[in-house]
Amino acid sequence: MRVLITGGAGFLGKRLANKLLQRGRLKDAAGRERTVEQLVLLDVVAAEGFADPRVKVVAGDICDTQLLNGIFDSGISSVFHLAAVVSGQAEADFDLGMRINLDASRQLLDVCRSSGRRPKVVFTSSVAVYGGALPDVVQDTTALNPQSSYGVQKAVGELLVKDYSRRGFIDGRVLRLPTISVRPGKPNKAASSFASGIIREPLQGEEAICPVSPETRLWLLSPRLAIESLIVGHELEAAALEGGRSINLPGVSVTVAEMVAALEKVAGPATVQRIRWQTDPMVERIVGSWPGRWDASRAEALGFSCDSDFEGIVRAYIEDDLPANQATEDRNTN
Ligand SMILES: NC(=O)c1ccc[n+]([C@@H]2O[C@H](COP(=O)([O-])OP(=O)(O)OC[C@H]3O[C@@H](n4cnc5c(N)ncnc54)[C@H](O)[C@@H]3O)[C@@H](O)[C@H]2O)c1
Repeated sequence: MRVLITGGAGFLGKRLANKLLQRGRLKDAAGRERTVEQLVLLDVVAAEGFADPRVKVVAGDICDTQLLNGIFDSGISSVFHLAAVVSGQAEADFDLGMRINLDASRQLLDVCRSSGRRPKVVFTSSVAVYGGALPDVVQDTTALNPQSSYGVQKAVGELLVKDYSRRGFIDGRVLRLPTISVRPGKPNKAASSFASGIIREPLQGEEAICPVSPETRLWLLSPRLAIESLIVGHELEAAALEGGRSINLPGVSVTVAEMVAALEKVAGPATVQRIRWQTDPMVERIVGSWPGRWDASRAEALGFSCDSDFEGIVRAYIEDDLPANQATEDRNTN
């Protein structure tokens, strides 16, 4: 089978590609195990570091329908649609967010439709589809009420995936991802960027700014389990989606203060002193509108899982991603 990852050069896209290459197989629409013969990585920037002959790197714009049609001519049967601009960027540049996060998603679904193959489509949604006056524990069925342009774009994307599936054009599954932490690399323009930065930068001996109050509650998932969840979502049988195509993924509910306490436990007091508290009202408004916890019992029953606690997430980051030469000396990995 041929598989397309949009946003294939991004944080999750590259990790997913590596995982799929290792795994080598996926279930087709009929539930039969198929060998992954080709993995197309589409992104505006060329995905680097893939020497595997099964990988085809395509550097191009997802808005280019001619390019998309060309990719689908080779017979794509599964799509992981990850290409997007992040929340802070979609808020700062309205047109860009609408073009990439909304218009391009609709175009991609249309290309899936005209391919006539009814591909499986895994769409990555977010906590940002919720907002306003929320119940203490949000359910899969809680009304969507996004408070940012990014959240609106994800919410509309969810509805499109649902309707294209109902019409039999695709077999869609929507995964509402918690915020992924700890993300390696540099800070990005996501409103939630600090959720990785306050762990990553201090562990590397650098200062990090925390733009929200210590009481802010977040719903988090490690990169390891995010990738596993994308695959579990792809492999679900059609019958599992009868209860709804949008699934709130399990995560760990923590306050920022609890995150800092976990970092201190793992890396010592000197590390957490590198966090500077400086409120950013835009970030506080966006992140404060997201649910800090939701009921993921349906997802758990379907086979999704999450990290046991935030301390485990910090330790997994150190194991998987912290460059050995950047680790601080005060780190205590007991
Ligand atoms: N990381 C998180 O915390 C999180 C949480 C919830 C949902 N999500 C969603 O998961 C998906 C992947 O997230 P990520 O963290 O890997 O993001 P990322 O920013 O690392 O990757 C997105 C990729 O999309 C690419 N892209 C942007 N515009 C494009 C265009 N016009 N054409 C082709 N490619 C384009 C970017 O170059 C980038 O490589 C996104 O849809 C995101 O909204 C992520």
